Amino acid sequence: MIRLKNEKQINGIRNSCKMLSAMYRELIPLVKPGVQTIEIDQWVRDWIKKAGGKPVFLGYCQKKKPYPAAICISINEEVIHGIPSKRRIREGDLVSLDCGIDLGGFISDQAVSIEAGKISRPVKELNAVTLESLYRGIEAVRAGERLLQISRAVENHAKSFGFGIVQEYCGHGVGLALHEDPQVPNYPHGSNPRMNNGMVLAIEPMLTLGSPDVEVLDDDWTVVTSNGQVSSHWEHTIAIFNGKTEILTDPLEQYTGLVRNS
Ligand code: MF3
Ligand code: CO
Repeated sequence: MIRLKNEKQINGIRNSCKMLSAMYRELIPLVKPGVQTIEIDQWVRDWIKKAGGKPVFLGYCQKKKPYPAAICISINEEVIHGIPSKRRIREGDLVSLDCGIDLGGFISDQAVSIEAGKISRPVKELNAVTLESLYRGIEAVRAGERLLQISRAVENHAKSFGFGIVQEYCGHGVGLALHEDPQVPNYPHGSNPRMNNGMVLAIEPMLTLGSPDVEVLDDDWTVVTSNGQVSSHWEHTIAIFNGKTEILTDPLEQYTGLVRNS
């Protein structure tokens, strides 16, 4: 069931999104070679607590073990749901951060992929195209039209560069819970409801160099590419309100050094 949000609820979700993006603006400059991912998680927990929110991912449970951290940190071949550890970020890593905040019951969700130091040309292109495919998806959001238009837009852009599109994971409704209906796949697939005023969606393309096949590690969370190739992930929370699309989370690419050029 798709829960349409009223203006008050969208205001609450927007505040949560603004808090999350503000956190990222402080966090992104700290994501550098030499830093342990567990240090980043501790920083995030402290920041969210001080700001008066709650980390939604911490303890989140689908079918498997509860997620043990406040943020997902997925490096290189890790696609999503990487668990912070003693691993140190190294020069040339592509570091995906994915986090959500619960602010007074309103949930935000945003992901960025950060280039640590100098990265290789193909990885740079992958990252730029993933970001652009997110915006192509957002541009396809329109009240009255079908949801899979988003998926088509993401897929078309990613495919035109020959990148793999991870199929097993997708975007989702968000706002009053972390994962709500509808699913928002990154290729046209499954149910295709009409988009409507009051919908709040997390759109989140995950692209890979080469094959899009993925596996889940023994920790029950970390999703990696089967071929060990690098993956990029970008995510915004958006709302449809008064017939318009509003990106509720702030653009962060400028803080990661990426310029959106299409
Ligand atoms: N943002 C991700 C998603 O939308 C991560 C959530 S998984 C969690 O699925 F367990 F870490 F919360
Ligand atoms: Co999400």
